[in-house]
Amino acid sequence: MTEQEVAARAQLTLDRLRPRLKQAWENAQASAQSGAVESTGKTDPEGRPGVCADQLWCEFERRLEEHWGPLFAILYHLYHDRYDFFYHLEQILTTAALSWFERDEALRDNDRARINNPDWFKSEQIVGGALYVDLFSENLSRLRQHVGYFKDLGLTYLHLMPLFAVRPGNNDGGYAISNYRSVNPGLGTVNDLRLLAQDLREAGIVLVLDFVFNHTADDHDWAKQAQAGNFEHREFYYLFPDRTEPDKYERTLREIFPTVRRGNFTWHDGMRHWVWTTFNSFQWDLNYSNPGVFRAMLEEMLYIANMGVDVLRLDAVAFIWKQMGTGCENLDEAHLLIRAFNRLAKIAAPGLLFKSEAIVHPDEVVKYIDQNECQISYNPTLMALLWESLATRKTDLLVQTLGHRFRLPAETAWVNYLRCHDDIGWTFDDNDAAAIGINAYNHRQFLNQFYTGQFEGSFARGVPFQENVETGDMRISGTMASLAGLEQAIDEDDEQKKELAIRRMMLLHGVTLSIGGIPLLYLGEEWGMLNDYDFVKDPAKAGDSRWIHRPKMKWEYLDELNDELNDASIRKRIYLSLRHLIHQRKSTPALAGQEMELFNTSNRSVLGYVRIHDGDRLVVLANFSETTQVIAGNKVRTAGLGRFFEDAIEKTTIGTSEPLTLAPYQICWLSRV
Ligand code: GLC
Ligand code: GLC
Repeated sequence: MTEQEVAARAQLTLDRLRPRLKQAWENAQASAQSGAVESTGKTDPEGRPGVCADQLWCEFERRLEEHWGPLFAILYHLYHDRYDFFYHLEQILTTAALSWFERDEALRDNDRARINNPDWFKSEQIVGGALYVDLFSENLSRLRQHVGYFKDLGLTYLHLMPLFAVRPGNNDGGYAISNYRSVNPGLGTVNDLRLLAQDLREAGIVLVLDFVFNHTADDHDWAKQAQAGNFEHREFYYLFPDRTEPDKYERTLREIFPTVRRGNFTWHDGMRHWVWTTFNSFQWDLNYSNPGVFRAMLEEMLYIANMGVDVLRLDAVAFIWKQMGTGCENLDEAHLLIRAFNRLAKIAAPGLLFKSEAIVHPDEVVKYIDQNECQISYNPTLMALLWESLATRKTDLLVQTLGHRFRLPAETAWVNYLRCHDDIGWTFDDNDAAAIGINAYNHRQFLNQFYTGQFEGSFARGVPFQENVETGDMRISGTMASLAGLEQAIDEDDEQKKELAIRRMMLLHGVTLSIGGIPLLYLGEEWGMLNDYDFVKDPAKAGDSRWIHRPKMKWEYLDELNDELNDASIRKRIYLSLRHLIHQRKSTPALAGQEMELFNTSNRSVLGYVRIHDGDRLVVLANFSETTQVIAGNKVRTAGLGRFFEDAIEKTTIGTSEPLTLAPYQICWLSRV
């Protein structure tokens, strides 16, 4: 079918659906006015019937017209031969309309502001943090009391790890969701969440929550219905009566959690069927070849958005479409599905952004990043290569990679991080490595040895995650401080090593805070928190080494900040240094946007780049070795287009007629004076 034919069908379909949609809207309006449904949709101060709601309808219709063509084309492509396509299409549009109708006026105002300022997330003011509510502050209502903490540190973006109702026992840190519309009772209620969202909004902090849409928990209502034999819900998942199909799929699949279970399928005794489970056996992959699944998840997504969420972190995006004979990762249809969700978000909750969690090959990571797909994305390659540079004291692979992989479309941004709740995988490109004479396989072996502390002279104290004895593959768990050498230094009570460890941490933060995009701290980093080996005491966690880097917040650390006598406290120093860096970032306009140019420092240990924004320039130099390094002053002069510079971090002034000396692990942010 030609594009014109699809467009004609789109138009005809919209003409047919519009009156029904309008009817559903008017019904909602009528019941809101009669008080039958609680409505927040009234915007007309004089209460003139219909006037304000008409404005709302007009806004909705304008966006529907704008996005309908591309949306229809995707859904038609994916689902046109499904017997129930038109039914779901109508439901999808009705959900979008009613979600907009029911959205809080404060959120709709935010939407309007963001439509007028689409660059809002690229500001140098955006600095992110991620945390587990229970580990940080026990629950949501206590979290509300810590908004001042985030402000003090300088955060303006807060990702709360999954907080919805979960299955009992192991729930993969919240990623096995049994109900997207209720909060885990241990953490609070939906109302607590709404109140928190409101507090954060008032404090200028963006709220980020996960959209875990690849799988549900095995005790989600859909899964329970499926177990009870309900036809509709059995079709929500991938169920197989015997091994025939699973075995065929397995020929081309990777194993994500090989220590949990071999392969990607789990036998369910009650149903006497195999279930597709990419991750843990209790996380059932949803079958998006069924439009009913797309429709149902859309309803959950818009419900979550209307709680006051600014950014949805799209969990495990790579896995959402399966096709026999492929790796079932990063398929074209996965992208189309996200694009369809994106168009619907633009129609129903237009201020909402998507963040991609694709921890895959760098060629694949970038494919999710687009204004019509995920506007922002984790930058796993930068993360891995910063650790790689620390281990090797060389920036060659980092430079080789950034040189052709950092640039993104103008309407998008990286989320640059160092550690998160997950493991570190060495997701650089083998050809990038080969281009500079590195054997990728051997190099990954080396990095695993190094970061598990087995390599001679290593400063790191990580542990293996999901070691696959067959393939020799392994990923790394550990907190930032433990990986950067602080745990070893404290164990050995070695002052020199402590100093180097702290410098390594600040070096890495100095890069993610300046290289372009949204920097994201994993809370605990601001105190240099070490590995927590006690996770093994909890049977629900013992099998998953990622819990080693999910320690509980220690609020007593804050006392050290006010302790005059304790100037030498490591934690105080880390907190204050990081806070200083964050505040410097936020007062450096050159750090807005994403434009970054590498320059050759002629010193393999020193990374050099220039940030440019609206005529502002900042030169960054970062020494990845524990020895002093020298850079020709002329390099700085030509990169920074000036002869005298001030370092925003140390507040020193340098002239370019002399060589520039960088202390061990020093990073400087140089702007012209
Ligand atoms: C994502 C999460 C990870 C989780 C997995 C399954 O990758 O970051 O923690 O185990 O999805 O939901
Ligand atoms: C794999 C997945 C990623 C997930 C991680 C959890 O790397 O690609 O999505 O976060 O496993 O360990």
